[in-house]
Amino acid sequence: MKNNFIPTVKQKKIINLSKGKHIVFAPAGSGKTEMLSHRVKQALAKGVKPEEMICLTFTNNAALNMRKRIGNSNELFIGNSHSFGAKFLFQQNLIPKQTNILDEGESRVLLEDAVEDVKTSVEENGDSMLMIKNNDLENFICWQNQLKLKLPNNLVKKSKKIFEKNYSYSSKSIQVKTNIKIIYRKYEKFKKDFLSLDFNDILNLALYFLIKDKTFRNIYTWVQVDEFQDLNTIQWEILNYLISKNCHTVLFGDTEQAIYSFLGADNSVLRKLKETYQEHFIAENHRSPQYLLELFNDYAYNNLKPTWSEKPFSKNNELKNNNIIFNLYKGNQFGEIDFILKTYIKPLIIEGKNPIAILMANNNLVTSMSNKCSVNNIKHFPVASFDLFQRKIIKDLIAFLNCLIGSKNR
Ligand SMILES: Nc1ncnc2c1ncn2[C@@H]1O[C@H](COP(=O)(O)OP(=O)(O)OP(=O)(O)O)[C@@H](O)[C@H]1O
Ligand SMILES: [Mg+2]
Repeated sequence: MKNNFIPTVKQKKIINLSKGKHIVFAPAGSGKTEMLSHRVKQALAKGVKPEEMICLTFTNNAALNMRKRIGNSNELFIGNSHSFGAKFLFQQNLIPKQTNILDEGESRVLLEDAVEDVKTSVEENGDSMLMIKNNDLENFICWQNQLKLKLPNNLVKKSKKIFEKNYSYSSKSIQVKTNIKIIYRKYEKFKKDFLSLDFNDILNLALYFLIKDKTFRNIYTWVQVDEFQDLNTIQWEILNYLISKNCHTVLFGDTEQAIYSFLGADNSVLRKLKETYQEHFIAENHRSPQYLLELFNDYAYNNLKPTWSEKPFSKNNELKNNNIIFNLYKGNQFGEIDFILKTYIKPLIIEGKNPIAILMANNNLVTSMSNKCSVNNIKHFPVASFDLFQRKIIKDLIAFLNCLIGSKNR
């Protein structure tokens, strides 16, 4: 695709920032990825050393997108917080070179193996084991490991709260509590045996070493973060240690999404940042026509109560195609599925307008929609997107390659 990026005055100002700490509030489509990429190119051209720079993004796709726009620079880090944590731990020789980093799927398999082992021994004793959801176990394990590493109290307390919020641990019997602890120890042993770390270990260990050794806190002189509103407590803690006094820092975030997340747990982080970071606002959207933004603005004003200094706008005045119907549904997602089926899909089927494609926001909703279609005798087939790296054949290939380089991965 041809790229016509010619920065606006406001975008140029952000691209040219080279000192101090800044926070840029900019909605979707306002050119964040373009600005981030140009800032990196400019910094490299001005002689900032790539090994002193961090460019945090939130998805592998976003990282790939930026790499494409920047070109190759192998020493420069562009990626999410887990890959940053892993790179940091390996580069500073804080973990053995052969360590396997388990992805979410792999750590789940290991955890399920641990549960299965404990279940077998509990049943051999004539008892039955209360099933515990994987998510609850993962939260418990993360909390316990943070306790073990003596990470800051506020963080440990938060992890405990996350675990207890979903799982009413305190009301459970001693037997259940013992079983959870045995599963935890088994899982930790499996990881040790296979010289493996999961995603939570990486963040916990990165923070542990940053607290323990001050020399790690001055490595980076240039940091930028995309989608700061998605950072969780431990990621903020890690950043806090990485961003030294003289480190030039620009955080980019999405105002509407920030309203979502900061209404919750991390409100205090944003308030604190606003005291020391210079704020910038960008409202122009370069991706969508004005009629779409108006729809979005309407939604935002009714649901998110934004405090925009300027409403998102677009100079693209393309007219709405009258075949497009917008409907802002007020209610939960499941009610919305019933509403869509009744109001749009069934009438279209009766009119003989087939085939029909329905796009949903995530795989869970695809499943819910598919179930509802079955209940309503609507012939259909669900198509759920699946990450290439989560496919069995690719995982087998990667495990095989890991064996070839001598790792202990099973
Ligand atoms: N000044 C500009 N002139 C022309 N096109 C632009 C300009 N700024 C951004 N764009 C284009 O607008 C589109 C959206 O930009 P970009 O992907 O950088 O936005 P974003 O803020 O990162 O969006 P998101 O929040 O969805 O990640 C891209 O195609 C980009 O090339
Ligand atoms: Mg982007």
